[in-house]
Amino acid sequence: MQAKAREVYVPPVLQDLRAGTAELHIALEKRLPFFSDTLDTPAFVRLMQAYYGFYLPLENALINSSSIPPDFDLTPRLKAPTLRADLQALGLTAEALGSLPQCDHLPVIESAATCLGVLYVLEGATLGGQILRREIASRLGLEAENGAAFLDIYGAATGRRWRDFIEYLGTRPMDAGEREAVVAAAQTTFSCFERWLESREVLA
Ligand code: HEM
Repeated sequence: MQAKAREVYVPPVLQDLRAGTAELHIALEKRLPFFSDTLDTPAFVRLMQAYYGFYLPLENALINSSSIPPDFDLTPRLKAPTLRADLQALGLTAEALGSLPQCDHLPVIESAATCLGVLYVLEGATLGGQILRREIASRLGLEAENGAAFLDIYGAATGRRWRDFIEYLGTRPMDAGEREAVVAAAQTTFSCFERWLESREVLA
């Protein structure tokens, strides 16, 4: 689906990212069950548990990598705490949350470029969230207050925060090798996520 937020200038790294991940996005989008007729609340909870089992270790890997560029503010963009609060709102106890399986096949984060590739995927996913949010609200009656805050994690600031991220990416000096590393990390993030969701049996 395409509904491009207002973007004036598309920096080369973003052009490369789009060219390098468009197919992976389409393939994953097709298999995610958000629009499936069989998606009920228990299936949504299983899906969000699987999301949490990916976002939590991946965000921890970013935090612990010491490769996040010093001028990039990661904390306000972390999403695992919101997924955790959603799962609690959906009835999981702290104990149950603590024993959820976590993905251990993650992109290797070894440079600022790999951080930015991972972040492109995690930040870009907030755009689709705006569509998914409406679907889950109307289908399951779940919204920000009762278990679906993750799908609307930046709320009205979604477009602005995406443009801020793109501007950050675009103004960071990068040579061709770094651009390739950014794209490779984004591709690996998509494929690790898909493989993980498949192993959790939440994909179509
Ligand atoms: C059924 C699920 C999904 C739908 C319907 C969906 C839909 C969309 C839409 C409509 C956009 C473009 C928004 C815009 O430009 O204003 C978008 C962008 C994006 N989505 Fe998804 N998405 C889904 C799942 C995901 C997932 C699971 C990920 C990654 C974990 C993801 C990553 C991205 C990225 C990186 C972009 C930015 C592309 C760019 O403009 O450079 N999406 N998505």
